[in-house]
Amino acid sequence: MPSTPHPRTTRPHLRTVSITGVGAYVPERILTNADLERMVETSDEWITSRTGIRERRIAAPDEATSDLAAAAARKALADAGVEAVQVGLIICATITPDMLFPSTACLVQQKLGATRAAAFDIEAACSGFVYALDIASHFVASHTYDTVLVIGAEKMSSVVDWTDRNTCVLFGDGAGAAVLQNRPNAHGLLTTSLGSDGGKASLLELPAGGSACPASADTVARGLHYLRMDGKETFKNAVNAMVTAAQDALAKCGLTIDRIRCIIPHQANQRILSAVAERLQAREEQMFVNVDRYGNTSAASVAIALDEAVRFGRIQRGDLVLMVVFGAGLTWGAAIIEW
Ligand code: UT7
Repeated sequence: MPSTPHPRTTRPHLRTVSITGVGAYVPERILTNADLERMVETSDEWITSRTGIRERRIAAPDEATSDLAAAAARKALADAGVEAVQVGLIICATITPDMLFPSTACLVQQKLGATRAAAFDIEAACSGFVYALDIASHFVASHTYDTVLVIGAEKMSSVVDWTDRNTCVLFGDGAGAAVLQNRPNAHGLLTTSLGSDGGKASLLELPAGGSACPASADTVARGLHYLRMDGKETFKNAVNAMVTAAQDALAKCGLTIDRIRCIIPHQANQRILSAVAERLQAREEQMFVNVDRYGNTSAASVAIALDEAVRFGRIQRGDLVLMVVFGAGLTWGAAIIEW
């Protein structure tokens, strides 16, 4: 039990918000480091030592982000014992939507048959799932919706330049989902801490295809429809922001890191995770890591990791869980959940 209850749990008109079901889906196709050695000038040794990534999943050409999202969502609904028609709201976090509009959440709504649900996307890059959890929790806490489906889904392979070794080795496709509801006599989501810095937007961006730089033959010829990243600067900012967000969330709950059973960080790079763990003075066994198998799946990353941590028995009822994320924007965030 946290020593200081979060204000949400002490205001009688607000309900507590629990995650009552989780699910994840990753495409079948595995792209290994050996496969990448045949595509760009790289090596398994470089990728493994610099990132910890050994393989990643790649969606089929006819599989869109909404397909990955719907597959993960079906599992989360089944896990929660909830029918699609009971869902009041679907929030999908993604930077690789099926198209600019309509939203991927609306396409998922149709695929699930969630006929009573409102639906919208949010875009906070790799931080998207924690941002979406926070938004969703307010709808449940305020009695606006009883059941909210939160999804993080990405088809990063559709925005990666497969000739750029600086970025193509890092990313993968997948989706994860969670069902948020009020569960009587449970704590659930205790607090969140979110932040952003648009002054560093250019560190990680996809320049073309929006209103500032509409897609054209010229933008395609210049490769502006692909993701770009300043890896070194992004790395430094990721470590600092994740540590600050985690510390802020812990302080809000009056908790210290040793009270956390499982830390679920954005799976960007093993070296980032090790640096974050060291700065937080967390033990290795507290960290949940699957970056070796999926690479960086952006908004899907912590959602897939949460599902695996639950399925692998790393999180039990009553445990304290810390999710901590960082992404383009820049954006960052942390959430503490009593499971
Ligand atoms: O999701 C949130 C956003 N993303 C991140 O958090 C990622 C943050 N950044 C990183 O993870 C790391 O910066 C990278 C893994 C991207 C790069 O690692 P690094 O240790 O910062 O390498 P570097 O960029 O300094 O590159 C070192 C060398 C360069 O060669 P030169 O200029 O020293 O000759 C690169 O060209 O490694 C070269 N290099 C590669 N070599 C083989 C870059 N990519 C590769 C590659 N294979 N795939």
